[in-house]
Amino acid sequence: MSLPTYHSISDTNDYYAKGQLAPERPARCRHKKFFRLIAASTLAVTVFYGLQHVSRTGFPHIFRTFCSKSLHGSSTQLPSHYTLPSGDKIPSVALGVWQAGKGEVGAAVQTALKAGYRHIDGAWRYGNEAEVGEGLRLSKVPRSEVWLTSKLWNTFHAPEDIEPSLDESLYHLGTDYLDLYLIHWPVAQHEDGTLNTELTENPYPTWQKLEELVAKGKVRNIGVSNFNVRRLQNLTANPLKIQPAVNQVELSYWNPQPELVKWSKENNILLEAYSPLGSSGRVKDSLNVPEVKEIAAELGMTPAQVLVSWQVQRGNVVLPKSVTPSRIIENLRIARIPEHLFNKLGKAAASHKPERSVDPSERWGLDIFE
Ligand SMILES: NC(=O)c1ccc[n+]([C@@H]2O[C@H](COP(=O)([O-])OP(=O)(O)OC[C@H]3O[C@@H](n4cnc5c(N)ncnc54)[C@H](OP(=O)(O)O)[C@@H]3O)[C@@H](O)[C@H]2O)c1
Repeated sequence: MSLPTYHSISDTNDYYAKGQLAPERPARCRHKKFFRLIAASTLAVTVFYGLQHVSRTGFPHIFRTFCSKSLHGSSTQLPSHYTLPSGDKIPSVALGVWQAGKGEVGAAVQTALKAGYRHIDGAWRYGNEAEVGEGLRLSKVPRSEVWLTSKLWNTFHAPEDIEPSLDESLYHLGTDYLDLYLIHWPVAQHEDGTLNTELTENPYPTWQKLEELVAKGKVRNIGVSNFNVRRLQNLTANPLKIQPAVNQVELSYWNPQPELVKWSKENNILLEAYSPLGSSGRVKDSLNVPEVKEIAAELGMTPAQVLVSWQVQRGNVVLPKSVTPSRIIENLRIARIPEHLFNKLGKAAASHKPERSVDPSERWGLDIFE
């Protein structure tokens, strides 16, 4: 039996073009096919193990940016942003900078922005806004791409004190607007630290000034922090022009506040979870909670990643603080926890008496959370 004549590629294409069968391939072509098969299998195995590795350690930044864009909105992913009533999109994970000391916070901001964070949670009171601003400037990430939050301290609640305090924050941060400005605590104090009872019980004058600052363009969104439902309702009973978009509160394994989470969703107020790892005093305990460790082991995540992911999966913004480069990167790599494990963690968190890591009530002479 004679071997079929060898056809060039164009010959073969001609066959298909004419709707005829391609001629039987000679042995050389069969070898090529075999080698292609080997190459494809090698590629498949490499991709498989590569993806396994990446699921444990995370994508390099460039891929993560690409993937987070392409996967945005997919039901298997956690949200990268939430949309506020203003239409602004707030990133779901921020770098917290409380207790991030001088000489380390600027570097932390730079590391975070390089790793892909686009949200920094700061406050006038943290005393480090100049270094945060410097970190932002040195990172070369455009201001317009970063969500900056600051907070109005207790001694500046009087309407005439608000704008000068905001201006100081803006000056230190090196910007002319904030994305979000929060009333840090539902506690107004005089300059000497004593309680301003009137303004504490009626924060409407403070809020009206914040609304004015939105109209002026110095602040894009306004909200509160450490407000319970009673205090929020007390504020929103007034004829507000702008409703509080955000309430930043302590949300951790130790203080999960499921009722507040539910109420806030029903009332269209986005919660931001502070001290999600239990703050510096309880971080070790948090990472050693048996359920957290079990879930982390099952999913190939770290315990910190489970706790940070959990808050976003509950529908909250999360604000883990770290000045350690590897932890800053680790905390950004969040992933959806399968429903049964998510519920297991929620149940464990709700099964003990709530404990706060941050509560200055005694020091300030009022029950802040009553
Ligand atoms: N509105 C308010 O009144 C209020 C109150 C408290 C906090 N906040 C905000 O919320 C942010 C976070 O809260 P927080 O600072 O209290 O506590 P946190 O984020 O729960 O915990 C911070 C502690 O955890 C450590 N840590 C971070 N990531 C870790 C990881 N992957 N593995 C092991 N340890 C890790 C940090 O150490 P290193 O830094 O040494 O890495 C630090 O000691 C604050 O920075 C602030 O922006 C707001």
